[in-house]
Amino acid sequence: MLPPAFVEIAQLGKTYETPSGPAVIVRDFTLEVAQGEFVCLLGHSGCGKSTVLSILMGLNTPTTGGVVIAGREVDGPGTDRGVVFQAATLLPWLTVRENVRLALDQVSSRRPRGGAPRSVEMYLEQVGLAGQGDRLPRELSAGMQQRVGIARAFALEPRLLLLDEPFSLLDALTRMELQDTLMRLWEGSRRTVIMVTHDVDEALLLADRIVLMTSGPAAAVGKILDVRFARPRSRDDLVVDPEYFWLRDAVLTFLEEEAQGGSEPLCLI
Ligand SMILES: Nc1ncnc2c1ncn2[C@@H]1O[C@H](COP(=O)(O)OP(=O)(O)O)[C@@H](O)[C@H]1O
Ligand SMILES: [Mg+2]
Repeated sequence: MLPPAFVEIAQLGKTYETPSGPAVIVRDFTLEVAQGEFVCLLGHSGCGKSTVLSILMGLNTPTTGGVVIAGREVDGPGTDRGVVFQAATLLPWLTVRENVRLALDQVSSRRPRGGAPRSVEMYLEQVGLAGQGDRLPRELSAGMQQRVGIARAFALEPRLLLLDEPFSLLDALTRMELQDTLMRLWEGSRRTVIMVTHDVDEALLLADRIVLMTSGPAAAVGKILDVRFARPRSRDDLVVDPEYFWLRDAVLTFLEEEAQGGSEPLCLI
């Protein structure tokens, strides 16, 4: 018998009440994610990606179905999950160091005795912010703020990382730098990640599997692609691999077909 999946999303559905009546956004979304897997969730703008992710975060309740993480049903937010949103949600009156320390302190009682000591400085160094601990968030660029957000998420040592388009507001160069930082951190920790993105190349660089969502209304899992490039990965290696173009084409074809059938315009970076 196969071991149970680490994350089980079963027949998830979400209907929002709107002035013009109930709107079925997600219906029968079912997905299993293995421990240590990096999954990218990709689909058109407005299809319901953030809705699914916010239910995983425990910030939103499903109308039908549910989510089980490591055998426990999600019924609210918790420090077992690290989250990163589009824009960094740092506490503005605390320094960079204090923002990350808050996360470390939240889980200090959970850490087994004798475990390797973790320090704020270590996490800051891992995201390329060594020496920046005394600065306030407003003194940092958007990309640096997002680095703090990633450091904070990893400092929770979460079982699951949930990232909702964390790099989509950054310029192309900064986005690539942060993708590399995230990839290195993930390769060193192999935490389970579910990341929403609408950037095909980002998904191909980072993911073990790309889960393509249909356009909705009543969006569900439309197609799942295995991304089997050897790790550690580099952009240079990927772009000379014929499999890269085949997969890229499969994603774009799916999205184009969904755009024709769906109600939302094609929106790709
Ligand atoms: N609280 C809400 N009430 C009503 N409609 C909502 C609410 N949140 C999201 N929606 C609608 O649900 C759809 C999916 O939204 P979302 O999950 O944010 O999509 P995505 O992240 O894929 O862009 C959108 O049409 C959005 O307008
Ligand atoms: Mg969204």
